[in-house]
Amino acid sequence: MRRIGWRAVIPVVAALAIVGTLGWAWFDSLLPESYSVMDMGPPPGHGGMHHHDGVSVAALTGPRDGPADVSVTLVARAERVTLADGRSVMGYTLNHTSPGPQIRARRGQLVEVRLVNESVAGGVTLHWHGYDVPNAEDGVAGVTQDAVAPGHDHVYRFVAADAGTYWYHSHQLSHEQVQRGLFGALIVDAADSDRVALVHTYAGRRTIGGRAGTTAVSAAPGATVRVRVVNTDQGTMRAWVSGAAYRIGAVDGHERADAPPVRDLALVVPAGGRADLEVVVPDGGGAVRVDVGAGAGLLVGPEGAGVEASAEPRASVDLLSYGAPEPLGFDPGAATQRFEYRIGRRPGFLDGRPGLWWTVNGRLYPDVPMFMVGLGDVVRMTIENHSGETHPMHLHGHHAVVLSRDGVAATGSPWWTDSLEVADGETYEIAFVADNPGAWVDHCHNLAHAAEGLMAHLAYEGVTTPYRIGGGNQPE
Ligand code: C2O
Ligand code: CU
Repeated sequence: MRRIGWRAVIPVVAALAIVGTLGWAWFDSLLPESYSVMDMGPPPGHGGMHHHDGVSVAALTGPRDGPADVSVTLVARAERVTLADGRSVMGYTLNHTSPGPQIRARRGQLVEVRLVNESVAGGVTLHWHGYDVPNAEDGVAGVTQDAVAPGHDHVYRFVAADAGTYWYHSHQLSHEQVQRGLFGALIVDAADSDRVALVHTYAGRRTIGGRAGTTAVSAAPGATVRVRVVNTDQGTMRAWVSGAAYRIGAVDGHERADAPPVRDLALVVPAGGRADLEVVVPDGGGAVRVDVGAGAGLLVGPEGAGVEASAEPRASVDLLSYGAPEPLGFDPGAATQRFEYRIGRRPGFLDGRPGLWWTVNGRLYPDVPMFMVGLGDVVRMTIENHSGETHPMHLHGHHAVVLSRDGVAATGSPWWTDSLEVADGETYEIAFVADNPGAWVDHCHNLAHAAEGLMAHLAYEGVTTPYRIGGGNQPE
């Protein structure tokens, strides 16, 4: 009889242990058929309690009755679209165009948008990026509504309470649908002379509103033109101006009271972010050029006028110190909640797929505790990125103000933001008032990263959602 020596068994046992551990990690990562964001990792200090009573997200709507001041129907289709520059690409359209129709309103008006899904197989929604709408109007599939299936519709109603430059996009399968065209601009209280520069890359070419290269904008000598730049792409964009100085009139929809002129500097516009650049057309018959990278730009001036395009400036404006300080309207020193949003990366399984995945506070999606707040909380959040890549972080439903970057306090005009680039190695501290009850996603706007799990939630005590992620709802 042959005896098996214990030495021979050790590697076998070790191998089984490794396989067993990996197997468990794989199994444990599998997502159920559908799940509620309310089940995502127990919120710290809440003992894993479930929020099955309280107010439903579905009840947190805008005004449901009464006539709307601005009423738009948007029909979503999967089809071939001819862009403004004549190229034709396969993608998604709203009313047969991409970008979709621009929605304009005046402050205080009631906006109603009826979204009809004619032929987008995966379902669609509309999210009002940067606009602090009531939670039920936020358009996140599986969190604030069910995705709208082909043949169905959904009505959004909200008051245009804030002026500024915003945009809308699908928040169902968003990493694919936004890239392929399901978005448009939402502009409140614009002057007639303002120009919207909706920057988007279609089939590998950067465009402004679907037009690659240079777009001419006619403006009289001496005129002031506000160019409302929106970055609808997945990566950081830089904007700069040739032929004149420019002012940064607003960032992420928030007007800057003090906007000193900028020269020889670019402005970083994170994915999802907006910046209103003000330029003055020279008196001598020349033009001003606003570039957004990859050769795409606006030439602003009298017909036929030109300007020598300057090289892309190497340095960028630092919004931390741009303009003069003003009161915030709340006191971040009186914070009642403090959160950490630490972004990292590690090997593991995400829904059974092995990979190098993003982590939030060391955890893999969806095992990320929600950030729990009460109505009226003053929240300070530290966002730290040590993941090896940059992340444009986007919190829904709230505007936050930047307090510091890498320990250096903000000294400029208040930097209100909803789309904040947090580069690898950086730490930002932001603050906001929890004044908009609901369940809100807080994710990276490089939408592929969000689909890879760079996503957390801010939820109010006592709010529950009847919607579930999975099945027909795939928000990212
Ligand atoms: Cu513009 Cu949650 O996204
Ligand atoms: Cu990211």
